[in-house]
Amino acid sequence: MTPTKPHQLQLNEQGQLRHFLTTEGLSRELLTEILDTADSFVSVGRQAVKKVPLLRGKTVVNLFFENSTRTRTTFELAAKRLSADVLNINISASSTSKGESLRDMLWNLEYMDSDMFIVRHGDSGAPHFIAEFVCPHVAVINAGDGRHAHPTQAMLDMYTIRRHKGAFEHLTVAIIGDILHSRVARSQIHALNALGAREIRVIGPKTLIPKDIEALGVKVFYNMAHGLHDVDVISTLRLQKERMESALLPSESEFYRLYGLSTEKLAFAKPDAIIMHPGPINRGVEIESAVADSERSVILNQVNYGIAVRMAVLSMAMSGQNADASNQREDA
Ligand code: CP
Repeated sequence: MTPTKPHQLQLNEQGQLRHFLTTEGLSRELLTEILDTADSFVSVGRQAVKKVPLLRGKTVVNLFFENSTRTRTTFELAAKRLSADVLNINISASSTSKGESLRDMLWNLEYMDSDMFIVRHGDSGAPHFIAEFVCPHVAVINAGDGRHAHPTQAMLDMYTIRRHKGAFEHLTVAIIGDILHSRVARSQIHALNALGAREIRVIGPKTLIPKDIEALGVKVFYNMAHGLHDVDVISTLRLQKERMESALLPSESEFYRLYGLSTEKLAFAKPDAIIMHPGPINRGVEIESAVADSERSVILNQVNYGIAVRMAVLSMAMSGQNADASNQREDA
């Protein structure tokens, strides 16, 4: 049997989202629908009562096998603002420490009438694996898997770009730093390509840029002066030391000297270029503190937009699951 690719698994027969595992293979129309739906949710955070009833009666389970600050909390806020019940599973205090397998754990959670699993895992492909064996009515959302994908991060980045810069067709976007270990960079590249960005660049040392990255439709630069020339959007990445198997850099200070986004290097970009970072930021390693806190930085805006974007993804996936379930009832 041919294995199901994540982008095939994540859509129902009508082409609606039912899981969200990757931005790879998704159409411009679907990604734009996520951004437009997020637009309609931004105002919810400004209401006196920050709630809409779209997921009332649904149970959303946060399953974070890796640490997180932004993604876990903004998924929780997003689900609560949609009126869902939210379970946060503390993995280190769960029965996995007594030898229970992932599959058994999830089957138990399914029998608690869960409707949605939000999964962060250190292994690439874990959310895809889960989406293949969960009950048909359960939606799986990838909250970051290994170095593979972080699709909701990419979509909140796309939302931030569209909000601050408008149409993608006019934009040159540079992604700087540890591209090799970055699930965010991969998901951003797929989304930027689908949304029609004029040019996508990656900038970093040879040791931190995958050899075949040009096949994804990006231009590679090893020099910040050339790579940042005339860019509209800069997305910096931290060094993901937890995923490095060997020493790939002489030192952090050498990395900062060559690739750290300093005020001096920022002058190569367009004067109105925006600065993004998925977080967590390491000040003085990939970004100068003054740049991270400058008026051109939209790093904290990204976090805020992340709630609306995750509300959009949760509500669209639930609606795709419901459409599937009603089709199956009609077929029965
Ligand atoms: N951007 C991001 O994934 O941050 P967290 O690891 O804090 O969730």
